[in-house]
Amino acid sequence: MKKTLLTTAIALASAAGGISQAQAAELTISCGAVGAELTLCEEGVAAWEDKTGHDVDVVSTPNSSTERLSLYQQILSANSGDIDVMQIDVVWPGLLANHLLDLREVLGEDVAEGHFETIVTNNTIDDRLVAMPWFTDAGVLYYREDLLEKHGFDVPTTWQELTETARKIKQAERDAGNDRMQGYVFQGRAYEGLTVNALEWVASHGGGNIVEANGEITINNEQAAEALDLAASWIGDISPKGVLNYTEEEARGVFQGGNAVFMRNWPYAWALAQSDNSDVRDKVGVTQLPAGGDEGQSAAGLGGWNLAVSRYSENPELAADLVAFLTGEEEQKRRAIEASYNPTIDSLYQDEEVLDAVPFFGTLYDTFTNAVARPSAPTGDAYGRVSNAFFSATHDVLSGTLEGAQAVEDLENELIRLKRRNW
Ligand code: GLC
Repeated sequence: MKKTLLTTAIALASAAGGISQAQAAELTISCGAVGAELTLCEEGVAAWEDKTGHDVDVVSTPNSSTERLSLYQQILSANSGDIDVMQIDVVWPGLLANHLLDLREVLGEDVAEGHFETIVTNNTIDDRLVAMPWFTDAGVLYYREDLLEKHGFDVPTTWQELTETARKIKQAERDAGNDRMQGYVFQGRAYEGLTVNALEWVASHGGGNIVEANGEITINNEQAAEALDLAASWIGDISPKGVLNYTEEEARGVFQGGNAVFMRNWPYAWALAQSDNSDVRDKVGVTQLPAGGDEGQSAAGLGGWNLAVSRYSENPELAADLVAFLTGEEEQKRRAIEASYNPTIDSLYQDEEVLDAVPFFGTLYDTFTNAVARPSAPTGDAYGRVSNAFFSATHDVLSGTLEGAQAVEDLENELIRLKRRNW
């Protein structure tokens, strides 16, 4: 059964006792709805229902991670048990830990064995495993193999090369009559997705990770400013002005409709680009993101989602069992093959059926295991504010209201203020 999380939030705000539909079900899980995400979640949940005979309500959440977080914070701060199992972003464990169960206590010490250790560590706050890894994510570059070949270009390895190639192919395609062709689409809306895109530009130019693992604020440097200015130069040139309001799905819409040469997105876009009704089926390549100039190196932002059990759940053991099932090997394999969600179980990267379905899980294995983390660990429960400050500053540069150098200087000051108060 499905309803939106918004309905739940409204019901929570108005009636402290919760909502009738949720009472009818034994458990409620909130899932994302980007691309095929909700369908995949519903299928997994249905398999658990068949196996156990229990009932689960599936509620969907907004596509923007930033909006999802504020909904969750609203629900959890009401100490509501209406949502038992929550899909939480890799950057949230520090923010939400106090509201979540220690899954080792319920599922046993070795429940996360075989999963990537970096994610398990990320999800462990004060020795408590507050979420099980479900799928991991890393930013990748999608390109139109057919167009690169037709116009005689190699796959770009630097952002500067990508800029040139995108501009030339876009122009040639427009001259040939495709007025809608774009060079490069990415996630430019002022939200969490822009934080990841901009971290990739900055890190790939050697400009650091905004705030380093030891808490040092490093964003105010020339390479970072240069990376942001380069991205600003794309707007209205290789990227449409509308990209300033794109999340993952808007970028995918343009690319999958055949109207962009390059796209930055997460691996989920592969299965959809290859689906029967895709305009770009069998025309797409996937590779690592470009480096920032000859001195730079490719940097993929680390993403991914985990499953957590609310401390306020009335059925914590049942909820934890659902989490163990959904994050288990069989489900992760199905999700990888059907919808190109990256497993968090290392051995699945050697599984023939998985590699046949998503060849770049093999070729880009290092990209997935070396992805660059956003500074959620060092900034703890201030991360939401840090990310907001970073994506707002970046959005100002992209929309032409600030130069990169000014933006990173202002941002440094703001982060210093936040650090004094919060971390
Ligand atoms: C993807 C990532 C997530 C990130 C989000 C930003 O969903 O998995 O970690 O925060 O994109 O848009």
